[in-house]
Amino acid sequence: MLEQINLLREKGQNELKSLISADQLPDWYHQYLGRKGDLTSFLKQLGTLSAEERPAFGKIINEVKQEFQQSFDLRQETLRESKLHEELEIDDLDVTLPGRPCTTGHLHLTTQTLRRIYQIFQEMGFQVYEAPEVETDEYNFQLLNIPEYHPARDMWDTFWVDDEVVLRTHTSPGQIWAMREYYPDPIRVILPGKCYRYEQITPRSEHQFYQVEGLTIGKNIRLTDLIGVMTEFAHKMYGEDRKVRIRGSYFPFTEPSIEIDMSCSCKDKADSGSGGCRLCKYTGWLEVAGAGMVHPVVLRNGGYDPEEWSGFAFGMGVERPALLKHNIDDIRYFYGNDLRFLQQF
Ligand code: FA5
Repeated sequence: MLEQINLLREKGQNELKSLISADQLPDWYHQYLGRKGDLTSFLKQLGTLSAEERPAFGKIINEVKQEFQQSFDLRQETLRESKLHEELEIDDLDVTLPGRPCTTGHLHLTTQTLRRIYQIFQEMGFQVYEAPEVETDEYNFQLLNIPEYHPARDMWDTFWVDDEVVLRTHTSPGQIWAMREYYPDPIRVILPGKCYRYEQITPRSEHQFYQVEGLTIGKNIRLTDLIGVMTEFAHKMYGEDRKVRIRGSYFPFTEPSIEIDMSCSCKDKADSGSGGCRLCKYTGWLEVAGAGMVHPVVLRNGGYDPEEWSGFAFGMGVERPALLKHNIDDIRYFYGNDLRFLQQF
């Protein structure tokens, strides 16, 4: 048996040396070191030996096993290296070339704008309140005084998940969530979030965009408070010379309702008739928010008695104020994922 083991030792080493490719290694391993390999079959034969012979033979078999394992590891390393060298020669890879730098990202322009908006309203005592992004018809429309078949629904066509559930078209349903949570306390919150509309995409309109809703509920709150807050916002966001224009409007959930425009950076040119920009359609003004005094029906749906309480609400875009701030002339750049645009902010 000793002779047979020595023969195997020699044969195994010679065959290992004669291998020319790493692909041949597994076969060699199975034959000599595998569970059904030659060495294992010697181990199995130990049982046939006498108790005196067994330890010596067991020791030798283990020695050969260790030798084979070491030689195998070494050969594997050598063959892998030579394979790599061959590949490098074929592929012409220059490992001395500098690698691609790892750049760190930064906050998206929308997030930066949202954070600035939070900061300005927080300074005016508003808290941030989060409401659901997917709403029921009841919250998105009915509780906001837009019953089924009301023509005002046409102003906000949306994506329906099923007959009852919609991707919210505006942040206004958050008014109901906030009122029902805070009643009977006064409220001063902003509600940020993503909104969805099935509508034409233009330089000023996306089908997915952000709004920040504002809601105050208290005693003796008036329309002039709303105008004061929005004017303060414009001055803090853009500087004292930014102009705010108020236009009468209609929303089913406010009475009276207004629309708030802010002056575009091209306003002087637009006024003099010597230019302007396509963002504001050459008018010098851009609509940034709809607003008004919370409608009595909505107050009641939120749990507040309109005889006792009043409040104002606004729904402001986020991308549009950012367009104004940075003189960007097209909203479609925001989510086009072009780093050449995003890295500028
Ligand atoms: C509303 O969504 C009302 N919920 C606003 C409101 C809230 C009125 C509370 C009264 C009380 P409107 O559809 O006008 O209104 O949108 C409000 C603002 O969201 C717009 O002025 C604009 O800044 C932004 N916005 C609306 N649609 C888009 C759009 N498709 N893409 C980008 N911004 C938009």
